[in-house]
Amino acid sequence: MKPLFIVFEGTDGSGKGTQISLLSKRLEANGARIFVTAEPTQFATGGLVRDTLGGMTKRTPAELATLFLADRAVHCSNPVVGIKKLLDSGVTVICDRYYYSSFAYQGMDTSLKWVMDSNLNCPDILKPDLCIYLDVDPKVCDQRIQSGRASREIYEKLESLERIRQKYLEVFKLLPDHNIKILDASGTPEEISTAVYEAVKSLDK
Ligand code: TYD
Repeated sequence: MKPLFIVFEGTDGSGKGTQISLLSKRLEANGARIFVTAEPTQFATGGLVRDTLGGMTKRTPAELATLFLADRAVHCSNPVVGIKKLLDSGVTVICDRYYYSSFAYQGMDTSLKWVMDSNLNCPDILKPDLCIYLDVDPKVCDQRIQSGRASREIYEKLESLERIRQKYLEVFKLLPDHNIKILDASGTPEEISTAVYEAVKSLDK
């Protein structure tokens, strides 16, 4: 299998972490080299984003969207662990959130068109081979967040989860040239993992 760039999307609490770990184990067992990464990143740009998500630093929605854009450009282009570098060296990259998150989250609070154009036309930002959207009832996500965390980030309230899910589904319709797989992720982790694996295998046909 050629190295792939696969991204996972979903509302907070949709189980991306579990599915990413199951997929990477499965692909590794088949001999693939895998690198798992996430946005916001661990680079300095990711730190700026997290200060705002945690409520420490207030920023306008457009400022936040710009920081996510910068973080993504760094993520793709870093000469050592950047996504481009990894793909060029034969490694499959699995990323927890990518520009579809900016479209759904920042697209609610500032110009969606500007957020989409700036990301999709940025020469440093790669187009994924596959986007897997884990679709789970926001109420289930809310319960998972409730049981797993002491405090909530700005997007983790139930009303926000419902709005974000709607926005994701609206945005996906605007991207017919993207390979987006919306998976019903209300089953067991194993059932979902099998559906995820099928979607990835279909890229090889
Ligand atoms: P984090 O707790 O780091 O990860 P996750 O919830 O995915 O396990 O939170 C990331 C938050 O950042 C999440 O609420 C979505 C938000 N986000 C955006 O608003 N725009 C973006 O472009 C990205 C990548 C994330």
